[in-house]
Amino acid sequence: MAAGTTKSLEPVWSGFVRFSLLCLLLCLSVTSKQDDRPNFLLFMVDDMGYGDVGCFGNDTIRTPNIDRIASEGAKLTHHLAAASMCSPSRAAFLTGRYPVRSGMAIRGGMRVLPNTACTGGLPANETTFATLLKQAGYATALIGKWHLGLHCAATGSLCHHPNNHGFDYFYGTPITNLRDCGEDGESVIYMMPVYKKYKQICWAGLVGAASLLLMKFLGKIQVRWLSLLSFLAICTLVMAFPKVFILQLNPWNCLLMENEKVAEQPYSLRDLTPKLVNKSLKFIEENADRPFFLFHSFLKVHTALFATEEFEGRSLHGRYGDNVEEMDWAVGRILDAVEKRGLSHKTFVYLTSDNGGHVEEISVRDGQREGGHNGILRGGKGMAGWDGGIRMPTVLRWPKAIRPGTVVDEPTSQMDVFPTVLRLAQLKTPGDRVVDGRDMMPLLTGSRNVTDRRFLMHYCGSSIHAARYRPPTGGAVWKAHYTTPNWDLGTEGCYRTFLCQCSGDGVTHHDPPLLFDIAKDPAERSPISPESEPKFAEIISTIGRGVRDHMSSVEEVESQFSLRNILWRPWLQPCCGNFPFCSCNSGAYI
Ligand SMILES: *[C@@H]1O[C@H](CO)[C@@H](O)[C@H](O)[C@H]1NC(C)=O
Ligand SMILES: *[C@@H]1O[C@H](CO)[C@@H](O)[C@H](O)[C@H]1NC(C)=O
Ligand SMILES: *[C@@H]1O[C@H](CO)[C@@H](O)[C@H](O)[C@H]1NC(C)=O
Ligand SMILES: *[C@@H]1O[C@H](CO)[C@@H](O)[C@H](O)[C@H]1NC(C)=O
Repeated sequence: MAAGTTKSLEPVWSGFVRFSLLCLLLCLSVTSKQDDRPNFLLFMVDDMGYGDVGCFGNDTIRTPNIDRIASEGAKLTHHLAAASMCSPSRAAFLTGRYPVRSGMAIRGGMRVLPNTACTGGLPANETTFATLLKQAGYATALIGKWHLGLHCAATGSLCHHPNNHGFDYFYGTPITNLRDCGEDGESVIYMMPVYKKYKQICWAGLVGAASLLLMKFLGKIQVRWLSLLSFLAICTLVMAFPKVFILQLNPWNCLLMENEKVAEQPYSLRDLTPKLVNKSLKFIEENADRPFFLFHSFLKVHTALFATEEFEGRSLHGRYGDNVEEMDWAVGRILDAVEKRGLSHKTFVYLTSDNGGHVEEISVRDGQREGGHNGILRGGKGMAGWDGGIRMPTVLRWPKAIRPGTVVDEPTSQMDVFPTVLRLAQLKTPGDRVVDGRDMMPLLTGSRNVTDRRFLMHYCGSSIHAARYRPPTGGAVWKAHYTTPNWDLGTEGCYRTFLCQCSGDGVTHHDPPLLFDIAKDPAERSPISPESEPKFAEIISTIGRGVRDHMSSVEEVESQFSLRNILWRPWLQPCCGNFPFCSCNSGAYI
């Protein structure tokens, strides 16, 4: 009886053992698969130029932490932003697609999303790699600057909000840091040519009204007092209107949100860097035991410049240099946190800037240069054809596969981060849309020496100003400029307009295009003439074909920068306190 029982139990028992073993194996393989997936720690600096970083040849600025990423990993010397302005560049970075495909290429005069209460932004059907990582179980966070919109409908929906584009957690500003966010009374509006013109007209009106008044007083003309005084009043009102608007720029746009709530409005710049660092440290601490993606997106080194007391006056390069050095300090703090948790070996680190240094950025107060430096590169922010606007100081580190001290001189794009990250996370790149990025790992590991991408387009807004061509053999990297901005006489910037234009009488068209070999002449000083280069015509025609092929792949989509989409709508204004007097400080909510 007993023996019988044992016998009948045996198969059940061994089945159970086998099942458990199988389960154990399965579980192990699942966990080891999970363990294989790296964390992603991506930094984006705002408006930092190619010449602002130690390891990119600046020997007087101190950026030891960025330099360390390069020496322990790789330096990308030819890494290109898809646009020379924040909103479009960031849209391309997160989606791996040229901004023109998502409607995030600017149209007309507006170069970025101008306020927090408009309906333009990264469309809901665009997929960021944050979304794909989140779906795959990553904890995801954006700390810092977003600038890709909030609401997509006039009724309010927060569909452009980072929480709806793959970030579990958001702490930062939905728009950008503005000159107006500082405490020194400077405003970005004062820099704009339209404001300067407006002011001239206002002054002319006021002077006119005052002279009429004088003539009336002296009995030289016959007008009624009432009409004269109303004219004067209207002039004064018209003149005061932009001032009121400018005063409101600060409370309405200089705000921090935590997820969907306003956390601080207006923000105080002074301790903003350590505040954002603290948020990133907290996120790493809370998610150290699972795969995470942290996007630390600096509000630095854009104006308004800001630094803690510790960094004020510390650099050899004025307020701007102090900002760069504090930014580097922040990078170091966050890297230390990763290291302390023993995660350095399994964390993919990347740092870049969204567009080049803004050469026309000069303080109204004391004439100090407040924009970044693009080193030997020509041009800067807002100029999409010249490398100063788009070639970004970029470093990355991933000890598992990238040898320390790697240098990649081949052209790569910020759009490449999308497929590279997905591949490392063992995910597929979406097949239902054009993705312009390429996996960078073959170049980073040295399994490939020449990029397999032949062309890169350089858009200014929605028109192609230049195109880059990397032939499969030889060392040349050709760039043809079809359109270049008109610089102010004797300068290499558009100081009168604060930013160069993309079209109209602000640009010159070239036929044949200006041709450079960027590999030999990165500063784009000597255009190649048809006489000196026997293959000139062939190169130009190859590039022309590349441009046409690209253009035929671009579909017409709704512009996110249309007048309707950039209009400020008071009821969409994120506001804590009583509108229009939006105000609360960190104590109020957090
Ligand atoms: C180094 O950077 C600072 C500011 O970041 C700048 O003022 C200086 O011109 C740069 N030096 C070089 C050699 O590019
Ligand atoms: C950041 O965290 C540190 C340590 O907890 C704290 O001492 C510091 O006051 C915090 N800084 C800010 C600006 O929140
Ligand atoms: C890349 O270049 C190096 C050095 O020139 C060479 O040793 C290596 O074989 C090349 N690799 C490939 C994949 O072509
Ligand atoms: C998103 O929707 C717009 C409008 O319907 C469409 O034109 C576009 O192709 C869509 N984009 C993607 C990536 O599906």
